[in-house]
Amino acid sequence: MDANLSDQIENSHFRRSRLLRQYDMCESEATSPRSAISVYKLTPRKHIYYVLSLYPDALRRVRAEHDQKFGGVSKAAEMLCSDPTLVNDLPYTLAVIMESLRLFPPIGGSYRSGRVGQPLCCVHLKADGRDWPTYPFACFINDYAIMHHEDVFKDHELFIPERYLTKGPSDPYFVSPNAWRAFEKGPRDCIGKAMALIQIKIIIILTLSSFDFREMYADDTPLVNGHKMYQTLHVTAKPSQGCL
Ligand code: HEM
Repeated sequence: MDANLSDQIENSHFRRSRLLRQYDMCESEATSPRSAISVYKLTPRKHIYYVLSLYPDALRRVRAEHDQKFGGVSKAAEMLCSDPTLVNDLPYTLAVIMESLRLFPPIGGSYRSGRVGQPLCCVHLKADGRDWPTYPFACFINDYAIMHHEDVFKDHELFIPERYLTKGPSDPYFVSPNAWRAFEKGPRDCIGKAMALIQIKIIIILTLSSFDFREMYADDTPLVNGHKMYQTLHVTAKPSQGCL
C-alpha cells in the first residue's frame, strides 16, 4: 500500500474514532433529571439498528443517502469534522430516526398540570356532548398511544420512514404537525432534542456502512406487538433483556 494512501486511511480511522470518542464523552457528560444519558445512549440506537435489520429496503436507502453525501464511510468522518452542518441535509436518515423513535419512544408520555378554562376538546370526547375539565388534575399525554393510533399514523405498526417525506395532507401517510411527539411538544419539550438528533445521525452514519445487524434473542423469547425487542420500563423505556 502506498504511504500516502496508508496515511489517509490512518487519518480517517483516527478522525472516526475521535468522533466516536467525542460522542461517548458527550454521553457521559450529559446530565438531565430525566436520565438523558440512557435515553439516547441505550435506546434509539439499538432500535434503529433493529428496525433497519427488519426492513432491508430502508437500510439500502439510508446507506445510499450516506454514500451519496459522503462517498463512503472513511470520508464521512473527515467531512463531518470539517463541516458538521452536513448532518442537516440527510432527510431520509432523519426520517429513519423519527420513525424508529415513533415505534419505540424512549419516553412514552408526559404529565402537564391542568388549567382553569382549558378543557380537553378532543373530537371523540366532544362527540358525547361535553368538554372535559383539566383543572385541578394532572393530565397524562400518552405520546406512545398517539404515535401508535391508526387515525394518526396510517399502518402504525409498520416502519415507514417515507411518511415524513410526504408532500401534504392529501397523502394518506402524511404526518400532521403535532402528531410526532417523541420529544413532546410545547414550552416544556425536550431541550436536548437537537443535540440528540445530531449525535444519533453521526453514530448511524459512522456505523451503518460498516456493519450489518440482527437481533440475537432466544427462539422462545415472547413477542409483544410482533417484536422480541419490545420495550420494558426502566425509568425510561429500554429494549427487552436490555440488549440486542
Ligand atoms: C432520543 C433522545 C431523547 C428523547 C427521546 C427525549 C425525550 C424527551 C421528552 C419526551 C421530554 C419531555 C418530558 C416531559 O414533557 O415531561 C424530554 C425532556 C427533557 N429532555 Fe430529553 N430526550 C432525549 C434526549 C435528551 C438529551 C440528549 C438531553 C440533554 C443533553 C435531554 C434533556 C432533557 C431535559 C432537560 C428535559 C426537561 C425539559 C423541561 O422540563 O423543560 N434530552 N426529553
